[in-house]
Amino acid sequence: MEKSTSLNGNNEKSKDEILAALKTATTSVFLRSTPMPENAMTVKGPDFNHQLSLHELLDGYSRIGFQATSVGKAIELINKMRKWRLSHEPILPDEIEEYKEPLKRCTTKCKIFLGYTSNLVSSGLREIIRYLVQHSLVDVIVTTAGGVEEDFIKCLGQTYLADFQLNGSELRKNGMNRIGNLVVPNDNYCKFEDWVLPILDKLLEEQRSEVSLYCPALTDGSLGDLIYFHTFKNPGLVIDIVSDIRSINQQAVFAKKTGVIILGGGLVKHHICNANLMRNGADYAVYINTGQEFDGSDSGARPDEAVSWGKIRTDAEHVKVYADATIVFPLIVSETFVKEVLDQCKN
Ligand SMILES: NC(=O)c1ccc[n+]([C@@H]2O[C@H](COP(=O)([O-])OP(=O)(O)OC[C@H]3O[C@@H](n4cnc5c(N)ncnc54)[C@H](O)[C@@H]3O)[C@@H](O)[C@H]2O)c1
Repeated sequence: MEKSTSLNGNNEKSKDEILAALKTATTSVFLRSTPMPENAMTVKGPDFNHQLSLHELLDGYSRIGFQATSVGKAIELINKMRKWRLSHEPILPDEIEEYKEPLKRCTTKCKIFLGYTSNLVSSGLREIIRYLVQHSLVDVIVTTAGGVEEDFIKCLGQTYLADFQLNGSELRKNGMNRIGNLVVPNDNYCKFEDWVLPILDKLLEEQRSEVSLYCPALTDGSLGDLIYFHTFKNPGLVIDIVSDIRSINQQAVFAKKTGVIILGGGLVKHHICNANLMRNGADYAVYINTGQEFDGSDSGARPDEAVSWGKIRTDAEHVKVYADATIVFPLIVSETFVKEVLDQCKN
């Protein structure tokens, strides 16, 4: 058997062994592919040699790959939520009379639940959320205490752009509170106190609004501090979380179709999904968050985990966009809800 010899004179592999190894390597590298389905999408990026509008740029996101494709999917699903009407579906044998009426069917829409964490209200996403509420584009909002109070506080004073690296003790000396790379002067919270304390006396009257707003952990924030102080000044206020849970669950139970859009994780994510469990799951789900699932956290759980619990339907369409919501949500809103408002203006 012929042996190959290395430069230093040592015998190495036989020629046959080398040929066999080469054949294995060649077969491995040049493994034949099964043909792609005819409708398979090819990867394609934007061509900036041609002037592109924001719409044209975003329209191509789904073909870029990775999280850009997920952003494209989120846009597609939110547009499906917006356009769905009960009249698109056949009348079920057990349908109640009211929902057999054609007019009722074409005016019954998908109920859209929007959840967001507190920090997003501290950020400029607050203006986008305000826009969605102003134009009645979402039906149910769930946020944490900071999400409620930061909204009011921004009506009383400004939040400023700063730096993630600012020194905590220096900020404390100067009465400045840091949220990521934003700072909020403590004076804003003093103004908030002056404004909110008289309102606590009339809280129950203030609970009725056009958009149902749920805050299952209302006490974990400045509002909780003020509610605490209020118990000394004017004791007796009771906040009824039983009515709250009943009301949000009923929002889901009696909806013909639901879509959930959840920015961030934690309580807001779970509370919306759990309400949808009461109707055997949401029909559409868009998650936008930075959470990872390896630690078993609910924040990081993908939509498929909620499917296993019955919080999202088994046949639902869903996507998780792994991204900072401050980057992607403005883009998504511009391709979905803003179009609806512009279309309404044209008609
Ligand atoms: N401005 C504030 O952040 C603020 C103010 C007052 C009170 N609080 C209180 O702090 C507690 C915890 O806040 P929380 O539950 O609202 O959320 P959180 O800040 O604990 O965030 C929960 C998860 O959401 C995801 N997330 C957060 N920001 C994101 C982003 N920009 N993009 C994508 N994903 C993101 C992350 O995975 C994060 O772990 C609440 O009880 C709240 O009331 C917060």
